[in-house]
Amino acid sequence: MTKHDVRKRFIELGAAVFAVALPLGLQASDPQDIIKYRQAVMKANGGHLAAAGAIIQGKVDEHQGQLAEHVRAVQAINKDIPALFPDGSDLGETKALEAVWNKRADFEKRAKDTREKSEALAKAVSGGDNKIIVARLKELQDACKACHKDFRKEEKKK
Ligand code: HEC
Repeated sequence: MTKHDVRKRFIELGAAVFAVALPLGLQASDPQDIIKYRQAVMKANGGHLAAAGAIIQGKVDEHQGQLAEHVRAVQAINKDIPALFPDGSDLGETKALEAVWNKRADFEKRAKDTREKSEALAKAVSGGDNKIIVARLKELQDACKACHKDFRKEEKKK
């Protein structure tokens, strides 16, 4: 093979990999990997919101603008929750109920509501009025809960 042939072969192989990988996208992943990934992202969602809550309620002191950072993270995570629940990611060790897929419009409405509430919280944090921040935090927490109530299996009772 000449250098040119090698390069040509390389390009052909690259094209072949693309042809296979592109149409399958995220769905090509193992469903359990998608589930684990979204649970990790949701855990981060809960972590950042709890951390923001601790600062907002004055349980810990804020220094160097962490509140805005936690809230920015929450906003980023909630930009597109439905993308974490592609078709086929219902089978495996998941707490997601079938309603996520067969009541998709309702699910997406909850996600949109949560996205808007997280944007509102971020706005309130930049505004700096603690009373408004507390109110927006509560509304966001309620939005998370509303989705969990309809679309997530209940935690096991101890
Ligand atoms: C549109 C629906 C929806 C919204 C909005 C939503 N969640 Fe979730 N959440 C789910 C579902 C469904 C699961 C279960 C996922 C699974 O087990 O595969 C989940 C799981 C979780 C978990 C458990 C993760 C784990 O397995 O350890 C936490 C924590 C969590 N969500 C926090 C939040 C927080 C905080 C918000 C709001 C800022 C939020 N969620 C908004 C649907 C939603």
